[in-house]
Amino acid sequence: MPPEAGQDWREILVAAAALRTGVLEAFGEGSSPTQVASRTGLDARGVRIVGRALQEQAYLESRGDRLALTAKGREALHLEEGAGLGADLLLGERAIRNHLALDEVLAGGPSRDDVSSGGLEQRRRFMAAMRHISTPRAPVAAKELGSPPPGGRLLDIGGAPGTYGSAFAASGWKVTVFDLPDTLAAVAGDLAARGLSTIGGDATEALPEGPWDAIYLGNVLHLFDASTASAMVGRAAHALADGGVMAIQEMMLGRAPQAANFAVMMLVSTPTGEVYSEQTYRGWMRQSGVEPLRVVDLDEREHQLLLGRRR
Ligand SMILES: C[S@@+](CC[C@H](N)C(=O)[O-])C[C@H]1O[C@@H](n2cnc3c(N)ncnc32)[C@H](O)[C@@H]1O
Repeated sequence: MPPEAGQDWREILVAAAALRTGVLEAFGEGSSPTQVASRTGLDARGVRIVGRALQEQAYLESRGDRLALTAKGREALHLEEGAGLGADLLLGERAIRNHLALDEVLAGGPSRDDVSSGGLEQRRRFMAAMRHISTPRAPVAAKELGSPPPGGRLLDIGGAPGTYGSAFAASGWKVTVFDLPDTLAAVAGDLAARGLSTIGGDATEALPEGPWDAIYLGNVLHLFDASTASAMVGRAAHALADGGVMAIQEMMLGRAPQAANFAVMMLVSTPTGEVYSEQTYRGWMRQSGVEPLRVVDLDEREHQLLLGRRR
């Protein structure tokens, strides 16, 4: 989950601080930096300089002698709903903070963060950021997965953002999202509104009983070390119907240009996460009785979708 292309670290830090301090919101339909400073109790010079940077980054626009929110600025303010740019900015800021602890991690300390944990608000924001990142990719993945057999049931492991589940449902699959109970609790209303069934649990321990006609593992295996991730693939294979489809979407090492950098993100943001190569994923499928069929590049090779069929 790297920050959006086009957002550099300065934009992420400036916009995230403007969100957290209330500066962005305070500009509203049009205010001067002095008015915003006095309304928020923040430093006038700081608000003037940050306001100018936010204008440069198209979160604000000038309206006479005032600055007002643009559509991008308003989008950023919706932190927990929909496919949130604001959530993506805060996740980017969190990633930068985690990277600043890299020397401690290199010295043998624990990862700075666990991206799958946190309170309700943090989980909700993580889900909104995931939706923001995956919204363009999900329909492509659904098209590659293809249509279901009559009444075909699909289990989406780690699917709480709902983006892929919605796209699969639009192709005719009966989708069940399986995710951590606390994460599902944070987005229950959204998933229900999308018409997706849910089951809470821990995929490192057990999966809902099958047989499923398809199982989708999207950007979840990289959260774990190789033995945990391969065991999860084995568990998924076991829950698949004969002839059922397994789909693994990941940044695959050696194929996705961002994969090596993304592994550093996993190093500082998860207790044991890692990235793996296409060959590794193919091997895990094969040893579980799933024949790898083909790999599709998504997002100009940023992600790969590996499809296999249970023998
Ligand atoms: C990086 S997000 C990917 C979300 C979505 N599949 C996508 O591709 O946009 C990882 C998801 O896996 C879930 N997850 C993490 N650990 C899990 C576990 N042990 N069991 C089930 N789900 C888990 C997280 O809550 C989160 O929804």
